[in-house]
Parts: sequence; C-alpha cells; structure tokens
Amino acid sequence: MSKSSTKKSKSFTLTENSTGNSFELPVLEGSVGPRVIDVRNLYAETGCFTYDPGYTSTGSCESTITYIDGEDGVLLYRGYPIQDLAGKCDYPEICYLLLYGELPTELQKSKFEDNITHHTMLHEQISTFYRGFRRDSHPMAIMCGVVGALSAFYHDSLDIADPSHRMIASYRMIAKIPTIAAQAYKYSIGQPFIAPRNDLSYSENFLHMMFATPAESYEVSQTLAKAMDRILILHADHEQNASTSTVRLAGSSGANPFACIAAGIASLWGPAHGGANEAVLNMLEEIGHIDNIPKFIKKAKHKEDPFRLMGFGHRVYKNFDPRAKIMQQTCHEVLEELGIKDEPLLDLAMELERIALEDDYFIEKKLYPNVDFYSGIIFKAMGIPVSMFTVLFAVARNVGWIAQWNEMVEDPSQRIGRPRQLYLGETERTFVELKKRK
Ligand code: SDX
Repeated sequence: MSKSSTKKSKSFTLTENSTGNSFELPVLEGSVGPRVIDVRNLYAETGCFTYDPGYTSTGSCESTITYIDGEDGVLLYRGYPIQDLAGKCDYPEICYLLLYGELPTELQKSKFEDNITHHTMLHEQISTFYRGFRRDSHPMAIMCGVVGALSAFYHDSLDIADPSHRMIASYRMIAKIPTIAAQAYKYSIGQPFIAPRNDLSYSENFLHMMFATPAESYEVSQTLAKAMDRILILHADHEQNASTSTVRLAGSSGANPFACIAAGIASLWGPAHGGANEAVLNMLEEIGHIDNIPKFIKKAKHKEDPFRLMGFGHRVYKNFDPRAKIMQQTCHEVLEELGIKDEPLLDLAMELERIALEDDYFIEKKLYPNVDFYSGIIFKAMGIPVSMFTVLFAVARNVGWIAQWNEMVEDPSQRIGRPRQLYLGETERTFVELKKRK
C-alpha cells in the first residue's frame, strides 16, 4: 500500500507563561485535511501530557485508506468518492480497494473473489460454539464469541509479522464473517445452518445463508442482493471511528487479527456507534405516530434527559453524512422494488427528519441524520430482524477493520498504544491496618 509521505510544514511555538519557556512543535501536513501538531516529544520537552478525552482534536495515526471531510460531507475510500463507489462497484471490489489501495482489474477481481469464495466455510467444530449460547442471546454476543474463537482454529495465520499470514487471516475474516453472522441468525430462530455456496456472489451468498431452508429451494432476490451490496459498501470503512480505533489499539500489542476484530465487534455494538441502527428502529417504534414526534424532540433537547435522537448527530459530519443521503435513496428504491407502498416507519422517519432539521437545537448543534438513520428501515423491509442490524454493520465494517489493522502492523513507526491520564485521585497516604480502621 503506497503511502504519501507527511510533509513537515511550519511549526507552532508553545510558550509557558509562568516561565517564559518556549517549545517548538512541528506541524505535519497530509495530502488533504487538517494539519497536525506533532506532540510526540511534548512530554519529554515540557513534562506535560496533552489532554483530549474522546479524542475530538487528536490524530492517532497516519493512514491512506479513508478520508472524511465533516464540513463538506466528503467520504473517500482510497481517494474515490463514496457516491461513485456505491453506485458502480460491488462489495468484493471495495474489499480489494481497501486492502490493496487500488481498484482491481477484471482479472484481479475474479482471482480475489475466487479466493474469498473458497474460504467461506467454517471448521465444523465451530458450529458447536453456537450451542453454548442461549437461543435468545443477542447475535452480537455470539459474533464477539465466535470471531474471537477463530484464533483457536487457524494457527497457520497468527504470525502477524509474516505478510502471508496476515493476508490469509484477512481473506479468512472477509470470507467467513457472513457465514458466522448467518449462523448466529439461524441459531437464534432454531433453524439449521445453511452452508455457503460457491456459485453465489458475496451478498447473494449471505442472503442465501440467512433465509434459505433445507425444506425448499430459495432464490435470492437480485433487488435485495444489490441493496445488501450497496449497504455493505456504505458501511465498509470510516477512518478512525471508535471500533476501528479499538481494533488498532488491540492490534498494537501484537494480538492476533481474530482477537482484534472481536474487539472491534464489541465496540461497534454500543448504541452510540454501530448499535444505533437497532436503536433507531426501536426509537421509531416507540414514537409510534407522527403526532408523538414533538414529545420525543423535546426529550432529545432536554439537558437532563439522557434520551437522544438515535441516528442523528456525528462526531465528524457537521452538515450531512453522505452515506445517509445514499441510504435514504436506497430506502425508497428497495421499498418500491419490494412493492411496499406505505411503510409507516419510513413516513415517520422522514417526518422526524423534517421536523428536527427545522428545529434550532438541531441546527445549532449541527445534528443531521447519520448512516444509521435509514439503514434499519431497509433491513426491516428486507426481512432482517432488528437484533441482526448491528451484525450487518459488523459484516460490512470487518474489511475496514482488516485494512486498518494491516496498515497499522505494516507501519514502521507503529508502537504499542498506551495513552496517559490527568490523575485526580488521592496522593500517597499512609496504610492503616484493618483492626485500626474506624
Ligand atoms: C456511527 O465515528 C464514526 O465515524 C461512527 C460511524 C462509522 O461509520 O463508524 O459513522 C457510525 O457510529 C454513527 C453514529 C451513530 N450514533 C447515533 O446515531 C447515536 C446518537 N448520536 C449521538 O450519540 C452523538 O451524536 C454521537 C455519539 C454520534 C456523536 O457524539 P459526540 O461527537 O461526542 O457529540 P456530543 O455527544 O458531544 O454532542 C454534542 C451536543 C451535545 O449537547 P451539549 O452537551 O453540547 O449541550 O449535541 C447533543 C449532545 O447532547 N447531541 C444530541 C444528539 N447527538 C448529540 N442531542 C440529541 N440527539 C442526538 N442524537
């Protein structure tokens, strides 16, 4: 993966007012986007840490994979706008692009797909893992468990210093995560697992494993396969979001890729992150009717009320999430192609969006629909249960996590991630024996 070198441009001078001491801090410039102040030597030179809980102003790494511009609603995968990719590529093409940095030729694409296709099966003993879960387990709990357990089966791809091990582990993760996800769903409804088929595309295969049964033949709808492919593309990568940063931090200790991806799945599960798509559907069903929208908007604005409008807001996007716009358009297309004339949840979502975007609170705080706002309505129309929504996000984001993990391992400046803190606890004090404590 070619990496454009960071250019050193001017510097910042940091002056400590009390002593008048000044420190030069180099400024680094990327190919596009905000410059960064290089504080790697700050502690050594000043004895101070930086302080940025939530990392609102902190760059954690150099990367060439995904670029986001929050003001202009730009999302590029390896320099290509998401709008072009979502409309003209399929998901395996995006996997190749994110992994290798270039769109594949026809020959490269067919070889890549063939390789992925022939790794979709799971070791037969893995299927016994599911039996240890209650049938009503949340599928994300099963995903965390089964993906983490993969490292117990693939000893031939755990040496992360070996590029061939990293690549086979990457291919295995991309190939097997739809199989694992579909099996988590089948287990939850008490149906037998459906084996992957080598004659189907990535998205067709996933839908087939989700919805086919041994009792009758199952024809995958091309409409749904196309919609699934586009949704997987839209969710594939997103710079240094919480779950990707989790994967990088886990990987920085040298943990194996399967364990790192399991950590990413755990982080994505949170309702503030990938769990939001499930939370949006639950919220829309709780709102129930357009007449109830003002009450929920009021709750969302109330400082003391923990309720937030799920599917709204984003740490980076402050005008619009380009994925949300494509998702809304896909929503209309899928409902129309499925002949779903009036989906009350869609009407409710669109009215909620309209009211919120006219409300001063949302305008002032720059809160707009994000990628999760419409995805749940499409998933519901596709027959996917709410509990599987975040699992689908994990299936899609898996390739982004893998690409970012590879980039981190290959980065010569990579070190174990070890943040510091602002300590506010007790300073040293004398120990008191148990008998003498009052
Ligand atoms: C994803 O990082 C990524 O790229 C993530 C993601 C990806 O592809 O990986 O894009 C996927 O996670 C999308 C986000 C999905 N989450 C939700 O839809 C949950 C609802 N949204 C919020 O929880 C929130 O907007 C976040 C978590 C998305 C962003 O949180 P931030 O950047 O920390 O913003 P904040 O919580 O500091 O909010 C700023 C202000 C606050 O008010 P004040 O304290 O300034 O008075 O805006 C308010 C918040 O209370 N606010 C909301 C709100 N989101 C923020 N108020 C009501 N409803 C909301 N949804």
